Amino acid sequence: SKAHFGLIGLGVMGENLVLNAERNGFSSVVYNRTYAKTEEFLKGLGSDKAIQGAKDLQDFVDKLERPRRILMMIKAGSAIDAVIEQISPYLQEGDLLIDGGNSEFRDTERRVAELESKSFGYIGMGVSGGAKGALEGPSMMPGGTKTSYEAIESLVCKMAAQVEDGPCVTYIGPGGSGHFVKTVHNGIEYGIEQILAEAYDLMKRVGGMTGTQMADVLAQWNATEELSSYLVEITEVCLRTKDPDDGSDLVEKIMDQAGQKGTGLWTVVSALELGASVPTIYASLNGRVMSSMKPQRITAEQILHGSAIKPFDLGSSADGMAPLMDAVVLSCMASYAQGMELLRIASAEYNYNLHLPSIAQIWKGGCIIRSRLLKRIQDAFNADPQLSNLLIDPWFAEQVNRRLPGLAKVVAGAAEAGIPVPCFSSTLDYINSYRTARLPQNLVQAMRDCFGSHTYQRVDKEGTFHTEWLD
Ligand code: 6PG
Repeated sequence: SKAHFGLIGLGVMGENLVLNAERNGFSSVVYNRTYAKTEEFLKGLGSDKAIQGAKDLQDFVDKLERPRRILMMIKAGSAIDAVIEQISPYLQEGDLLIDGGNSEFRDTERRVAELESKSFGYIGMGVSGGAKGALEGPSMMPGGTKTSYEAIESLVCKMAAQVEDGPCVTYIGPGGSGHFVKTVHNGIEYGIEQILAEAYDLMKRVGGMTGTQMADVLAQWNATEELSSYLVEITEVCLRTKDPDDGSDLVEKIMDQAGQKGTGLWTVVSALELGASVPTIYASLNGRVMSSMKPQRITAEQILHGSAIKPFDLGSSADGMAPLMDAVVLSCMASYAQGMELLRIASAEYNYNLHLPSIAQIWKGGCIIRSRLLKRIQDAFNADPQLSNLLIDPWFAEQVNRRLPGLAKVVAGAAEAGIPVPCFSSTLDYINSYRTARLPQNLVQAMRDCFGSHTYQRVDKEGTFHTEWLD
């Protein structure tokens, strides 16, 4: 009999998604550019399952029930366009292609329009959770037409991670909205990773703590409502792991250069384009950029001298490193707040009609940024779907008001010790700016008017004003 759905691209994500679907009662046919890979999979993990292989695309489409549902798990970029071109001649009206990779949302926007105009369906679907998530239940963010979504709804609802209020998948919106939401998810992911790296750096260099001691603190944090999350959980594991060669902390053997594949950059670029303020996320991206300049940093360390490391109060492990925890909690909250605000602004600008409580809901399980905090985020946006910024929701505002002194103390101490804390300090500036009703940009306006007659508004009367400043 014909298979329920097809997969193109037998990378680890593709393989695991097929196995996940099969476990949930959906048979499949798989196709890979090199058939050897397909054979290997069918003899190995894919054996004795309702999974068949296809040698070529004709064979592939012939083995699929109609309308065909074809998931592409291949590298984002031109490879997607190439596969669309190769398979299009074999498709029939109503057949549906799904891109489950990390594609740039504008590419998806274009592909949806192109394919829909040919009476095919096209879904751009963010899939989060890594290899394990793909197998056990990821969080999925599908965008495209509602009709196309309905064709995959039963499949993705079964495959997704399940949380107390349903599966971690929902119809996101039209066009490239699914990939946009996944991009912002990744921006938040970059933020939280850098925040935890900054906490580690301070515990190590100021607190003189060992990997095991730091891991114990992470374990304590993971037991709190504010920080319980997947990334805190794996950070504990990373800090606890020893190098089998000599039993020392493995993390110290890892080169301090962070890679990136694009989504963090796209989040920041989109935010800049849309006038959304995402400094914590930007700081994390720049942290990676700076980290990759390893040779320059080695040279500069010999030339530029900061203050010597001075100890300051990070708290004790008995109290969960209270000020440091304040810094981590507020910075994570700021990452989510900035991501959600970017989604709200993009939604209005691109007519995505995003439902922010549902996005928080589908991030509660399966994905890399899953955390207990997302329940609070969901509640906040349910209480006010147009909430301008998460941090002014009463529950979050109380957290900010209570933890801001701790964050300030950590940033001040790090500044005096000459240790970079880009996410912590950006978060502090972000919150301090946001809670300041009158900022000094009146002076910027004066300068703009002075040299360029750009005019200004006044606080005491209506109208547009210009002054001959230099007369
Ligand atoms: C996920 C992840 C994953 C992503 C990398 C990207 O949600 O499962 O976001 O989809 O490919 O984590 O991150 P880098 O740019 O850091 O490689």
